[in-house]
Amino acid sequence: MVGKGQSIHGQWGSRWAFILAATGSAVGLGNIWRFPYVVGDHGGAAFVLVYLACIAVIGVPVMMAEILIGRRGRQSPINTMRTLPAEAGATPAWQLLGWMGVLAGFIVLSFYSVVAGWALAYVPFTASGMFTGADTATVEAAFTGLLDSPGQLLLWHTVFIALTGYVVSRGVRSGIEKAVRVLMPLLFLLLLLMVGYGMGAGAFAEAVAFLFTPDFSALTGESVLIAMGQAFFTLSLGLGAIMAYGSYLSSRSSIPRNAGIIAGADTVIALIAGLAIFPIVFAAGLDPQEGAGLVFVALSYGFGQMPMGMLFGTLFFVLLSFAAWTSAISITEPATAYLVESRGWRRPRATFAVAGTAWFVGIGSILSFNYWSDMQILGMNFMGVMEYLSTSVMLPLGGMLMALFAGWVLPRSATVQELGFKNQGWYMAWLFLVRYVVPVAILIVFARALGLF
Ligand code: PHE
Repeated sequence: MVGKGQSIHGQWGSRWAFILAATGSAVGLGNIWRFPYVVGDHGGAAFVLVYLACIAVIGVPVMMAEILIGRRGRQSPINTMRTLPAEAGATPAWQLLGWMGVLAGFIVLSFYSVVAGWALAYVPFTASGMFTGADTATVEAAFTGLLDSPGQLLLWHTVFIALTGYVVSRGVRSGIEKAVRVLMPLLFLLLLLMVGYGMGAGAFAEAVAFLFTPDFSALTGESVLIAMGQAFFTLSLGLGAIMAYGSYLSSRSSIPRNAGIIAGADTVIALIAGLAIFPIVFAAGLDPQEGAGLVFVALSYGFGQMPMGMLFGTLFFVLLSFAAWTSAISITEPATAYLVESRGWRRPRATFAVAGTAWFVGIGSILSFNYWSDMQILGMNFMGVMEYLSTSVMLPLGGMLMALFAGWVLPRSATVQELGFKNQGWYMAWLFLVRYVVPVAILIVFARALGLF
């Protein structure tokens, strides 16, 4: 039986290794950079509530489905989506799901690395004291200055993708597990410190009201789609990253419990990031709709105002870069594992090909802030299009197909065994969610965003 074997790429050292790696994948720029900026763009609390509902009702069941498919297949997502349908007597077309995930992975990695490059660039910015006591105009100018400079963006993008490729080429097990164990808690503490600062800085009540007092009239079909896409993005779902990590998971570890821990930690970190950032935004009179620069501008202003801000700020951007690193590694893994399995390439060569391709596509995102800034497609620049297409379209679509596959195609005996619920009622609830609720909800959100009703 497939599920009992081991992946040729190895297996996690312990259950906690999987949880750490998967949490490292989930917690990243999605929580600290993207969550606050899309919340700001889409008016606050009502958006946050839709996002939380998507995490609970769609995200968690899909995460269980994605991990269990991975563990059942024990191969790279593309090959797993070839083997499992064949075993179940289903159409080979399911393989396209694996390919779409890999394509989505290239797209996500390409812009992810550019934004992670901003985090890297902010390390020397902050350490040089450039923000100490600076006013909002100065911190804003620093961000625009960075975007205006393709050379700097390219440098940091290259450094980041090289760091990512380096770890993936060595195999995920060594190194990164150890680093994550120390760095993630540290990042969490620094975020709490920022929340503490925000509480004292004056606009905390305003921030809480913005994040938690919903006004549903502001919610459009489009913002619901963005909220749902953000739920997939932040949980790393829909492109096979979690499937690949699941394929290295021991068959004794509980998938439902793991999924609960990962989703819980990810959600808490996003909300804390919101509570750290919005008090500064309101106290400093910044515009919550500032867009992709929101976090960089708000936090560097905040650090500039607080005692020892130079030290804490520098540390913060180092840790943010680490959080992005552990996520980027997971995005690189599915395509790399496929090249190793099916082409017989050695890991370093496979990684080089994958990271190199994403690096190349990422140049488009870099140019979209300067040379190509006039080029708009549907009101978005190149990076905006990449972000929208992957996050709001491909990831939910991939997640929906994974739910359908786990719910309808895999034999019940397989899903019962993989999930290992002691209570039959929980299993039936999961099955009902992946069979009906998840696909219907995603289709409705797609249809509304397209203006079909
Ligand atoms: N979840 C990561 C983040 O929030 C991004 C990611 C998306 C990682 C998709 C893997 C797959 O930053």
